[in-house]
Amino acid sequence: MPEAKTKDAIALLKDDHRTVEDLFAQFEKASGDGRKQKLARQICLELSVHAAIEEEIFYPACEGKVDDDLLKESYVEHDAAKVMIAEIMAGEGAGDDFFDAKVKVLQEEIEHHVEEEEKRMEGLFAQARKAGLDMDSLGEQLAARKQELAATYEASGVPKPELTAMEGVSV
Ligand SMILES: [Fe+2]
Ligand SMILES: [Fe+2]
Repeated sequence: MPEAKTKDAIALLKDDHRTVEDLFAQFEKASGDGRKQKLARQICLELSVHAAIEEEIFYPACEGKVDDDLLKESYVEHDAAKVMIAEIMAGEGAGDDFFDAKVKVLQEEIEHHVEEEEKRMEGLFAQARKAGLDMDSLGEQLAARKQELAATYEASGVPKPELTAMEGVSV
């Protein structure tokens, strides 16, 4: 049997985006507190792993090779999403009157962020591709780290997110 070919970095990250979009779509249609709770937990897990591998591997590789403002915005958008993820994970779940609204706002934040990454021509991924990053090697690194983090988070839960660009003030 031929060896499974590793995905290139952008294909891997885009697949993650599609996975999360699908989970959000399922959440929108879901009924029942248990089901919604389970989907929200899965969304938070997928997004936490995805943000971590981008910030540990992909974004640093983009440093100095893509528009710096766009890259900085990406970190801040991740942090904004992490705040919402922490809120969703720490709350009472489906018993919270604002639970559905929080998941919806997280979905909207992610849709915007994914658009900034995937936009044709000027998006972060397009710029990284144009700059000639080694997408095969990055894809291998991302896949390995993703597997490792997903296993840890599934076994012991999603850790409280760490903010990268924001101060994490409490209001
Ligand atoms: Fe992404
Ligand atoms: Fe991202």
